[in-house]
Amino acid sequence: MKKFKHITVILLSIVVFFSCSKDKVTNTLPDPNCTDTVSFNATVLPIIQQNCVSCHDVGNSTGYTFSNHTNISNQSSAILGSMKGQGFLLMPQGGPALPDSTIQFIKCWVSQGKLNN
Ligand code: HEC
Repeated sequence: MKKFKHITVILLSIVVFFSCSKDKVTNTLPDPNCTDTVSFNATVLPIIQQNCVSCHDVGNSTGYTFSNHTNISNQSSAILGSMKGQGFLLMPQGGPALPDSTIQFIKCWVSQGKLNN
């Protein structure tokens, strides 16, 4: 019986641990003040790759290519503008707009100096 209790406690701890770590992942938002440094390679590039590169890869006909740090940095105002539908056509084309939290990562990355990190 004592052994069984131990196992229950261990199992419960595992469940609690994983539910907490899962929350952490889904709620990983950059705070509005952008105090956490946003990584280009771990965060910005994957966002662009998953949402934009299907149409904006090298050699596409839209006039906008987002394939690396240089062209993404150089076009960051157009990228942010289009994600918000402000001053540019709303992107991804046809909508819906990306979640605010996703756009916030790009905003923070820009305000932190568009690091190649
Ligand atoms: C389904 C294809 C598709 C996807 C996905 C897509 N785009 Fe586009 N994008 C286009 C096309 C096509 C144009 C050219 C539209 C035009 O000029 O009428 C365009 C134009 C743009 C422009 C110029 C808009 C303007 O007002 O001049 C920007 C900036 C842009 N896209 C950024 C993005 C970003 C950032 C993403 C990802 C969040 C994205 N696009 C995702 C197809 C796409």
